[in-house]
Amino acid sequence: VSVAIVGAGPGDPKLVTVRALELIRECEVLVYDRLVAQELVAEAAHAACISRDGMTQDEINELLVRYGRRGRRVVRLKGGDPFVFGRGAEEIEALVAAGIAYEVVPGLSTFTALPGLAGIPLTHREIAGRVTVVTGTNADGSDLDWEHLGATPGTLVVFMGLARLEEIADNLMLAGRRADEGAAVVSRLSWPDAEVRTATLETIGAAARGMRGPAVVVVGDVALHANRLFSLAAA
Ligand SMILES: C[S@@+](CC[C@H](N)C(=O)[O-])C[C@H]1O[C@@H](n2cnc3c(N)ncnc32)[C@H](O)[C@@H]1O
Repeated sequence: VSVAIVGAGPGDPKLVTVRALELIRECEVLVYDRLVAQELVAEAAHAACISRDGMTQDEINELLVRYGRRGRRVVRLKGGDPFVFGRGAEEIEALVAAGIAYEVVPGLSTFTALPGLAGIPLTHREIAGRVTVVTGTNADGSDLDWEHLGATPGTLVVFMGLARLEEIADNLMLAGRRADEGAAVVSRLSWPDAEVRTATLETIGAAARGMRGPAVVVVGDVALHANRLFSLAAA
């Protein structure tokens, strides 16, 4: 196998998998995302390390295919899990079209790290039996289906939504979600400067002012119960 599509986890380099680290240490070419920890990039001691910053998706695909064709051991290191808003599938499609063998190593997504690290359970038998995950920024520029999101019970997790948080909260309330429903913004999860702020849907925009990305927005009463549940779990 020449090219490995590898998840790096949410930020803390210790949250990478054993297989990911093995591949990073052995690779000859490392193509990495901006959000990947520098400590992980440094593990690729014998590799040409290429930041994908400023490259289009087509350029990244071409790079993987070019080195893959030469039989180089390539690691494409991506933030979180490669397939949660990560375009991993597009990279694999390019490799398959070029006939290049690949391996996939799943990563810990922000989505799955969130409950344990931010203390917000995504499901809870008495509070939420369903989770909906969306991006606040659709690739085609279209807006979210507010009516549908307003009518869907349970927890809503919004990736890439911090910059338009107030607009998101307003639209959800207009679509029928309660103003006093719990909400949280989780920023820089697993990084040393991680921050969690909880409020209600009505007040989350003001409460989260000044927070830095990357961040996810959680809407649902699980956010209101977070601290209680977390401290119970930790006790
Ligand atoms: C392009 S998506 C990549 C998601 C990634 N594939 C995953 O599984 O977590 C980037 C978005 O993920 C979220 N994100 C990534 N890392 C994060 C972190 N450490 N803390 C909070 N949100 C994060 C933010 O919403 C950010 O805008």
